[in-house]
Amino acid sequence: MMRTVVKNYEDVDSWKTVMFLYNAAMKEVGTKLEILNDEFQHVHKYNPIEHIKSRIKSPESIVKKLKRYGHETSIENMVKYVNDIAGVRLICSFTSDIYRLAGMIGNQSDLKVLSIKDYIKNPKESGYKSYHMLVSVPIFLSDSVVDTKVEIQIRTIAMDFWASLEHKIYYKFEGNAPEYISRDLRECADMVSALDEKMLSLNEAIKACLQESEREKES
Ligand code: GTP
Ligand code: MG
Repeated sequence: MMRTVVKNYEDVDSWKTVMFLYNAAMKEVGTKLEILNDEFQHVHKYNPIEHIKSRIKSPESIVKKLKRYGHETSIENMVKYVNDIAGVRLICSFTSDIYRLAGMIGNQSDLKVLSIKDYIKNPKESGYKSYHMLVSVPIFLSDSVVDTKVEIQIRTIAMDFWASLEHKIYYKFEGNAPEYISRDLRECADMVSALDEKMLSLNEAIKACLQESEREKES
């Protein structure tokens, strides 16, 4: 059967169909990343991904976001403007893993990288750090292929710890946290960066040390 490529969702009009596609895209990307992680373990005896969290944005949050952007609530607008309906978060041990994973994702021939935001090189005002990639993945249906967007967030365990507390505080205060709390959060963000740096160099030192003792054993 000929496959028709649905580009602008002209044919996918119902809410249920759209949510089905985002769910499929989230699963597809999650599985792809698990396989990459397994392959890496198989070849290098090392897991760049500590764990993966996936989620679908709730209808309430989708509507809220469209409102915030000043768009009417419609399926067309949500597909066009809300990029994080399907979200996959990769948690790693070291910052080096983040860039390794980003490279691996960029090299996947079936994923299209639509945009990248590097909040590690350019942290947000809040202190937020993460590496964001917006990708699209083709979802193969019985009679069509639909490119569907997935937001991938890659961060270290420490960055994730910070972001989950900051998120909680942000919601508790509805974005208007007292200055001393925001200041302490930014301070914690700096401590997170220092910790990530130290853990990375410690890990490098451990590897070098083990290699050295291997060499000594051989000679
Ligand atoms: P939204 O912020 O989602 O409206 O879209 P955007 O286009 O600004 O995208 P961005 O890449 O900045 O943020 C997308 C997602 O990153 C958010 O939905 C959060 O999950 C996360 N994020 C961004 N900024 C922060 C932050 O300051 N704190 C926390 N905890 N998470 C953040
Ligand atoms: Mg934002």
